[in-house]
Amino acid sequence: MQRRPRRNRKSQAVRELVEETSVSVKDLIFPLFLVDGNKKKIEVGSMPGIYRYSVDTMLSEIESCLKLGIKSFDVFPAYPESLKDSQASESYNPETFYLKGLREIKKQFPEICLMSDVAMDPYSSDGHDGIVKDGKILNDETLQVLGRMSLAQADAGVDILGPSDMMDGRVGFIRDLLDEHDFKDTSIMSYTAKYASAFYGPFRDALDSAPKFGDKKTYQMDYSNTKDALIEADLDVEEGADFLMVKPALSYLDIIKLLNDNYSLPIAAYNVSGEYSMVKASAANGWIESNRAMVEILTSIKRSGAKIILTYFAKEFAELSQ
Ligand code: PBG
Repeated sequence: MQRRPRRNRKSQAVRELVEETSVSVKDLIFPLFLVDGNKKKIEVGSMPGIYRYSVDTMLSEIESCLKLGIKSFDVFPAYPESLKDSQASESYNPETFYLKGLREIKKQFPEICLMSDVAMDPYSSDGHDGIVKDGKILNDETLQVLGRMSLAQADAGVDILGPSDMMDGRVGFIRDLLDEHDFKDTSIMSYTAKYASAFYGPFRDALDSAPKFGDKKTYQMDYSNTKDALIEADLDVEEGADFLMVKPALSYLDIIKLLNDNYSLPIAAYNVSGEYSMVKASAANGWIESNRAMVEILTSIKRSGAKIILTYFAKEFAELSQ
């Protein structure tokens, strides 16, 4: 036998020499859930190890993450029903706890990269990402709300806006508005290929944001299809996105590769709540080793072409890498 591929696997040292992909803490964005009030740190039932924080406890959490080398955070708000309405008007109320919280975080830690989510669902009494009329999600009317929300978040100090709503034309609409209001340095990470997925379940628990009727299939994408991702990516590039994101990650590694092969913008992937909870649930039963599964999952996402990974595993990964 002249060729023995096993020779390149014979020791840890040799394996490290030939290792093509390794995940770094630098690649990760840590999603965090913010609630109103103070001294709160409440575990999300369906996401062991993940908490809803009030701003004071979130500041300490960010501080401990910074010590581990995590520099990027995506903050999502959890609103009580009493503050939700059909127009998501709380999303651009300058006094709302989410915007005040973002401002406070950025003031305390100006060096971090702060990301936010642009969509109506956390603030909507219908639990949808857009304005609902007669059971339909209105596209162009929703852009107006997304625009106001984006300006309010940019004004609070957000570095990267993440439109996750899947309305047509929103990236260009938001880009123009940001530029008109002198937020030229505020970036947009578009949820380019966001599929209507079962894997968002635990996130909707964390935010109490499940749709009150129907599903999100008229705006989020159909997981049977690939070409739609190319259409969305073409539009996002034309409309001025700075990053293209694929979401979820694990069942969509082919889509991550497709976008990375065809576009020069950096590709991000969102390793979503359900993907995290599957590992945690099976580890809790002793069926899988959480750390090994975590590193394998993150490496596979990076290997498929994502430079950036949004993941609830960020802190655990950073601790493991110490
Ligand atoms: C809001 C939004 C969702 C997620 C990120 N932004 C949920 C949804 O679209 O229903 C999911 C994140 C996760 O599951 O971790 N539009």
